[in-house]
Amino acid sequence: MKALVLSGGSGTRLRPFSYSMPKQLIPIANKPVLAHVLENIRAIGVTEIGVIVGDRVNQIQAVIGDGSALGVQVTYIQQDSPDGLAACVALARPFLGDDDFVMYLGDNMLPDGIEDIAAEFAAHRPSAQVVVHKAADPRSFGVAELDVDGRVERLVEKPSQPKSDLAVTGVYFFTSVVHEAVTAIEPSARGELEITDAIQWLVARGDEVKASVYDGYWKDTGRVEDVLECNRRLLDGLRTDILGEVDAASVLTGEVVVEAGARVIGSRIDGPAVIAAGSVIEDSHIGPHTSIGGDCVLTGADIGYSIVLDGATITEVRGLHASIIGRAASVGPSSIGEPRRRLFIGDHTRVEVAA
Ligand code: DAU
Repeated sequence: MKALVLSGGSGTRLRPFSYSMPKQLIPIANKPVLAHVLENIRAIGVTEIGVIVGDRVNQIQAVIGDGSALGVQVTYIQQDSPDGLAACVALARPFLGDDDFVMYLGDNMLPDGIEDIAAEFAAHRPSAQVVVHKAADPRSFGVAELDVDGRVERLVEKPSQPKSDLAVTGVYFFTSVVHEAVTAIEPSARGELEITDAIQWLVARGDEVKASVYDGYWKDTGRVEDVLECNRRLLDGLRTDILGEVDAASVLTGEVVVEAGARVIGSRIDGPAVIAAGSVIEDSHIGPHTSIGGDCVLTGADIGYSIVLDGATITEVRGLHASIIGRAASVGPSSIGEPRRRLFIGDHTRVEVAA
């Protein structure tokens, strides 16, 4: 069995971060989503992984390399334009050959693992097996309609009036018959070759298409709110590990990780929180569910339920909450005198300040 991870696409819902980095590299608990994905695949015993990449190939290669640090063997497959999930399967055909494979969307997080579902697929080998999750509002996902035996009767992509509450997650298992389906379908109204259409084609032909209901935690990290929520969930599993320096004037509560080379001076950190190597936290309060990336400098900062990416600086700004601060971004006091505020913000940036 092989794996195909989809890490191309544009990620417009994650602007402005996706302007400068592929969304699959957004850190959750200080580790890129894509690294979490590859680890989950390794956990089901699959190590030969094709990774579809778009124009951000260099950044992805710089972080993931050949995969050996994660215990897997990565083959990069370049996609010139985001033509759809089924187009990715067609593009990967030479890599996949006639092997069974798991297709895993590179922005999906299933931190509870997919071992049981992988075992179910291996035992029965239906033509396709989708992984579905009950969602209160599944309109922004593929939606599956099942018969009483858990067979898929119909899949609809992002329906405005869903007929079931089962959202299709970003994990799919296929045997090689899916390649027939992928070559048979036409682009959808949005111009993409949809994997839901390919699966629907198999259903219509009478193939066995199964659905496994996944009760674990699932998040498509396509929007900033989802990234923060997922970060919260992962940090809830954190275990204290203090390898960096914490001075006597600092107070740490809950589960806190201070990586080697990080320094905490005169600050309070309420876990779960993680401070990556090279960061300096001084006279600050880091609230629960916060990850601080590497080489950040926080002075007189108060921030909670947030993600600060590598190299960012926060100086004398309090009350930051539910925020994502991009790489090497700087947040500080007004240099032209209060109450004036000065903003240098990029396209599609969002700033919410007290009136
Ligand atoms: O997250 C689950 C949902 O993923 C499913 O419920 C939907 O049925 C499925 O179509 C998909 O919907 P999204 O709108 O979230 O797909 P997105 O465009 O975000 O693409 C998913 C991943 O695949 C993402 O990591 C980018 C990558 N991708 C996407 C396209 C269209 C590629 O690598 N190449 C592509 O051509």
